[in-house]
Amino acid sequence: MDEHGVVPTALDAACRRHAPKAVYLVPTIHNPTTATMPLSRREEVAEILRRNDVLLLEDDAYGPLEPDAVPLASLIPERTYFMASLSKCESAIILNHSLTCGAVDS
Ligand SMILES: Cc1ncc(COP(=O)(O)O)c(C=O)c1O
Repeated sequence: MDEHGVVPTALDAACRRHAPKAVYLVPTIHNPTTATMPLSRREEVAEILRRNDVLLLEDDAYGPLEPDAVPLASLIPERTYFMASLSKCESAIILNHSLTCGAVDS
């Protein structure tokens, strides 16, 4: 990783070497680094996953805190399992940890 998240050349090399079925990424406000991928990095990552035929598990737990960030799921919906959560964002802002709620879209 660098300050923009996963490094495309490293991801590509890992995909070629290990041929994973899926990759887990937190593109927006990565925990614990807080790195958020710019759109250009997301497009590179999407192309690498598509080319290597790798599924994506996108953890967007902090997505609501960066409403302008484009989920990878919208770039490669055909190969993404998108996981959202309310507890990390809404609770911090509104509910004071009184609600735990999550969702997966595939
Ligand atoms: C990136 C990430 N995804 C998921 C979670 C878990 O979220 P929840 O408590 O809503 O299950 C956390 C919690 O720290 C997190 O940092």
